[in-house]
Amino acid sequence: MPRARIAVLVSGRGRNLDALMQACGDGRIRGDLVGVLSNRADAPAVDRARAAGIAAVVIPHVAFADRDAFDAALGSALDALQPDIVVLAGFMRVLGSGFVRRWSGRMINIHPSLLPRHPGLQTHRRALEAGDREHGATVHFVTDELDGGPAVIQGRVSVQPQDTAELLGDRVMTDVEIRILPQAVAWLADRQLCLRGDGRAALRGRPLDNPLQLSDLDEAFR
Ligand code: GRF
Repeated sequence: MPRARIAVLVSGRGRNLDALMQACGDGRIRGDLVGVLSNRADAPAVDRARAAGIAAVVIPHVAFADRDAFDAALGSALDALQPDIVVLAGFMRVLGSGFVRRWSGRMINIHPSLLPRHPGLQTHRRALEAGDREHGATVHFVTDELDGGPAVIQGRVSVQPQDTAELLGDRVMTDVEIRILPQAVAWLADRQLCLRGDGRAALRGRPLDNPLQLSDLDEAFR
């Protein structure tokens, strides 16, 4: 099976990107990061990619008149990379439905909450305000519905009395995000994970009625 070509879209610090680079580097993901696209020139993720020798292209959304124009430019840059898999790893722009449909079944996102709880922004603060006892992150296939596509895997952390949004977010990142995202990409790269015609995610042919959990991680990702 040819190694998967993986493109990563980023806007932020690049901790998830870093986890993907490590997993590709040590062979846990049988694929190669062929390029990183960022909508922000100042995203530390861009520097992380370049420092690792991965081509990073900045397509600043502010330079475009509307979402369609931005999506078109992003789409061209993505097509040039000819990826098999597109990973939204802290990419903070909403993509239009044409773009999303083009990559259906091949594009996943990591969202920092236990979806369907807290779609959208400021998830850690909202989890605290809601008095949630558990919080976490979810990897899901990207569909037209914002943060609403079929979930693949989630990981949970307990909310502690002393938590601030920042503390909680850091724990979600280190305990959950950097584990479940590389794992999901590894499954995709191995063609073990797919989005079925009926809209359900499936792992090794088994439809996922509920998202997988940290206990379902392969040994190498624990
Ligand atoms: C992560 O929490 C991700 O889930 C969210 O944005 C953050 C990006 O962090 N969508 P990083 O760029 O991976 O450090």
